[in-house]
Amino acid sequence: MRIHFGAILLAASVSFSSGAQAEAQQLIFSHVVSPDTPKGKMALMFKDIVEEKMPGRFEVVVYDSAELMSDEESVDAISEGRIHFAAPALSKFDGYTSSLKVFDLPFLFPNMEKVNEFQSSDTGKRLLNSMTGDNVLGLGYLHNGLKQLSADRRFESPQDLAGLRFRVINSDVLKDQFQAVNAEPVPMSFPATFPALRDGVVDGQENTWSNIYSMNFYQYQPYMMESNHGVLGYMFITNNEFWSELTEEERRLFRHAASVSLRYGNAVAVAKSRNDKAAIKRMKSVALLEPTPEQLARWQTVMRPIWAKYEPEIGKTIVDEAIKISS
Ligand code: LMR
Repeated sequence: MRIHFGAILLAASVSFSSGAQAEAQQLIFSHVVSPDTPKGKMALMFKDIVEEKMPGRFEVVVYDSAELMSDEESVDAISEGRIHFAAPALSKFDGYTSSLKVFDLPFLFPNMEKVNEFQSSDTGKRLLNSMTGDNVLGLGYLHNGLKQLSADRRFESPQDLAGLRFRVINSDVLKDQFQAVNAEPVPMSFPATFPALRDGVVDGQENTWSNIYSMNFYQYQPYMMESNHGVLGYMFITNNEFWSELTEEERRLFRHAASVSLRYGNAVAVAKSRNDKAAIKRMKSVALLEPTPEQLARWQTVMRPIWAKYEPEIGKTIVDEAIKISS
């Protein structure tokens, strides 16, 4: 759905009643997943804490399921100060910084613990400030999990994907990843994915257990591989000017709300990843391939050369740090 900026700006402005009593300032938090996901739950907890700690001062209005705008639009909307909070996938900042492409490099992070370690390192923390020049400030990282491959036909080795069309987030690295196996990447927004799978516009996709489950992708993707080939993480972002204009005490309370809700969201991500995988595994309609290390090694061999291609763009120090932590 397209955003009605006039309405949002109106809703977001501080207004005063005739009794001169200030009404709570409405702050918009837009995201694209369902409320029952790590991000959906994190957003609602953030809202609760902000409203509890600063009663009558702020109201956080959460728009989920791309009801207000796509993630791609939300980064622009944050940068321009039209909305206040969003948590787009790390693959969706292409126009703003190249550094975050490190998270898209296939088979770089073997598990979420390593992702966490990298994000908590000085390098990872610095990336939160890599877009302040565009007024986009990172407040923290949120996880969803590792990505899995799925398709409407059986596959096992990289050659099996040749000629198939795969939905990807619009990221150069992710497009290259599918081109490396001679598949055709088709960039599209998250909400467009389910209809594209249903209507055969694409043959396959990559996403986390949680997104595959909550978006019902499995209905049209009877073949899946536990490839764990990439990371789906988010950056929780705000508009830097809005942030700087808050009082020190408000910033402290927003940081507190962000830190508690991100910790909660990350715990939900771990549980959902496990539970949603188990639920998919139980489905008789889905054939789940759990590859042997040898089978997986074939995928790594064809996809890993992408690291070297993107290293100059991302920055050698960043890539080296991620490799050091992951190995
Ligand atoms: C996607 O587009 O696949 C993801 O970014 C969706 C999400 O926010 O988890």
